Amino acid sequence: MLYFITGGAGFIGSHLSETLLGQGHDIVSIDNFNDYYDVKLKKRNCKTVEEYANKSNRKFIMYQGDIRDKNLIDEIFGNHKIDAVVSLAANAGVRPSIDNPLFYVDVNLIGLTNLLEACRIHKVRSFVFVSSSSVYGNNKKVPFSESDPVDHPISPYAATKKAGELLCHTYHSLYDINMACLRYFTVYGPRQRPDLAINKFTRLLLEDKPIPMFGDGTTARDYTYVSDIVDGTIKSLNYVLDRNKSIYDIFNLGGSHPISLKELINVIAETVKKEPKIDQLPMQPGDVNITYSDYSHAKEILNYEPKVRIEEGIQKFVEWYQNDK
Ligand SMILES: NC(=O)c1ccc[n+]([C@@H]2O[C@H](COP(=O)([O-])OP(=O)(O)OC[C@H]3O[C@@H](n4cnc5c(N)ncnc54)[C@H](O)[C@@H]3O)[C@@H](O)[C@H]2O)c1
Repeated sequence: MLYFITGGAGFIGSHLSETLLGQGHDIVSIDNFNDYYDVKLKKRNCKTVEEYANKSNRKFIMYQGDIRDKNLIDEIFGNHKIDAVVSLAANAGVRPSIDNPLFYVDVNLIGLTNLLEACRIHKVRSFVFVSSSSVYGNNKKVPFSESDPVDHPISPYAATKKAGELLCHTYHSLYDINMACLRYFTVYGPRQRPDLAINKFTRLLLEDKPIPMFGDGTTARDYTYVSDIVDGTIKSLNYVLDRNKSIYDIFNLGGSHPISLKELINVIAETVKKEPKIDQLPMQPGDVNITYSDYSHAKEILNYEPKVRIEEGIQKFVEWYQNDK
């Protein structure tokens, strides 16, 4: 198969690309290598995937460009016979979306619509859209299930992800494109974005610096290891490739084991063998209190079952951070 993966130089996109190449598929990707975080990290991710593709005798073609560039997207779909798309490229931070909502709407919705239009025009009928657990906002009921109402996002980022799911439904309904929308729950592992908690806390602990803790440490996240996320994403990709079915579906991909911010800091501190110094700060606007996935739907339809527990995942992350970063 030939897959078009947007955001292939990013944290999750580079892992997904590698795993698919390892399974004997070819990848075309687009990434604009923006400077939301250090561009060197994205270049290195991309180089790692390219080297892996060469070793595996598979194709990994990276276009440096923007998903909002209609002509370039059209050229890519014209140049390659794409079997399915995984849409990962997005502005991904929650807090920055509050300062820059127009930019988030532009990339996450105009960019997405550009891809959906290309699928319509070039008759690509299988699409995976990467959404987020943030669509649940401050959902009172835990764990979160796909049938819960998600009409109360509390950040522009979350609102663009929910709107993205709606756009995908529209293209499914009008053009019979099989769609899976994946609500990822906080993803971590090697190559994790440096703006995310586990990466940031590891760095601060190793530098003996205080850790900024927003709130009283009781907010909780359902951390999901990147290999579990990749596995669920590939299962959903296989699902939407089944053209005997007409599919629009939403899946939670989480670990179903939320831990509090305080516990997370302690797990990392124990792993790196440091005593944490905490700098307690007020809660940040846009941050939800808890994320907690009910992944029974993904288990039933996709056979998704996360395997990596937080202690093991943090250990692997720290090993990568200390040896390869
Ligand atoms: N990491 C998480 O915990 C998490 C949780 C839920 C959802 N997600 C979603 O997963 C996806 C990937 O997240 P990630 O953590 O790997 O982030 P990332 O920033 O590492 O990867 C995204 C990639 O997309 C690229 N990109 C951004 N805007 C682009 C544009 N306009 N055109 C082309 N490329 C562009 C970036 O350069 C980057 O390499 C995002 O859609 C994010 O919203 C991530």
